[in-house]
Amino acid sequence: MTTTKRSAIVRFFYTKIVKPILFKFDPEDVHDNITLIGRFLGSNIITRGTTSLMLNYENPALEQNILGLKFKNPIGLAAGFDKDARLTKILPYVGFGFEEAGSITGEPCQGNPRPRLWRLKEQQSMRVYYGLKNDGCGAISRRLQNANFKFILGTSIAKTNSPQTVDRQKGIADYVKAFKAFTGIGDYYTVNISCPNAFGGQPFTDAESFHQLMAEIDKVATAKPVFVKFSPDLPQTEVDALLAVAAKHRIHGFVLANLTKKFGGIGGLSGKVQENLANELIRYVYKKTRGRYIIMGVGGVFNAEDAYKKIRLGASLVQLITGMIFEGPQLIGEINRGLAGLLKRDGYKNIAEAVGKDNR
Ligand SMILES: Cc1cc2nc3c(=O)[nH]c(=O)nc-3n(C[C@H](O)[C@H](O)[C@H](O)COP(=O)(O)O)c2cc1C
Repeated sequence: MTTTKRSAIVRFFYTKIVKPILFKFDPEDVHDNITLIGRFLGSNIITRGTTSLMLNYENPALEQNILGLKFKNPIGLAAGFDKDARLTKILPYVGFGFEEAGSITGEPCQGNPRPRLWRLKEQQSMRVYYGLKNDGCGAISRRLQNANFKFILGTSIAKTNSPQTVDRQKGIADYVKAFKAFTGIGDYYTVNISCPNAFGGQPFTDAESFHQLMAEIDKVATAKPVFVKFSPDLPQTEVDALLAVAAKHRIHGFVLANLTKKFGGIGGLSGKVQENLANELIRYVYKKTRGRYIIMGVGGVFNAEDAYKKIRLGASLVQLITGMIFEGPQLIGEINRGLAGLLKRDGYKNIAEAVGKDNR
């Protein structure tokens, strides 16, 4: 059986049988159970091999060497799905090229009271109000140190969601504590300054605070590349101010973008509702910085065309969560297979040739 056929079977099974059942239950409970299944599938060679056979797709046209890291494909799991870095062993076999674990904070954090995750089926989006629930940098770094996996791992760092870190200096110290815990673990960092659900809002989108935060982070010795994740709701003047500050610091790229708060209600929205905002930000930042930074594009990617659009706007790498929830785990392989086809159609030998093509 071809990989295309296997993937079509998984799609049918997921969308017609599994998803209608899962979508009857509380989304956070479903997510926690999926994590348990993922941990089991990652635990031994047989289940890893079967997962790979059903889902994984590889093609040299999708491989890139970026900032010294060899990505087997450009599709990564975005921050927020694997908050406590428990899925590092299975995700490569699902077909992902990399993952961003977290967001991880200085102290363990329970997050906001439940319910804090909702499906917006019509809008193909999730409403997220987790409030940075995670085990904290100590427990997660210890777990990763002992884990045996071969996968590109980003660690998303945020500030502990509590009244104690609202003070700017304490907030910076909390970021730095979490940052320091991963100097030798994982492959890249993302500094998340755009969580829509934390105490004290998003204080580090103010240029001066961002400058002070990055000045302290610059002092931590690490060979890993550093990305910064922006909100898609920032006015252009604030984006300009942040980019001006970024130029003075050890920043290699941007993750564009986080959840949007533009449409009101509690928390922030992902998926199709956020997609255009993220794409506009990718377009703007790539053009403004003339491709000097690596961009990871994230928001509303449900198929290969969606991913290709972000790439042609300037993203070298693409991340997703919501598309996988709505379409199934075979989506990653489908997107990669589709991307390889789109590159071929357009006469590109490698994905890197398509980056920013619609935005010069
Ligand atoms: C359940 C959930 C939890 C999230 N938690 C985080 C987080 O902890 N840190 C972060 O930077 N982004 C978080 N995000 C935002 C995603 O990383 C991503 O930016 C956003 O969902 C848009 O991508 P998507 O449309 O593919 O989901 C979360 C998103 C979801 C759906």
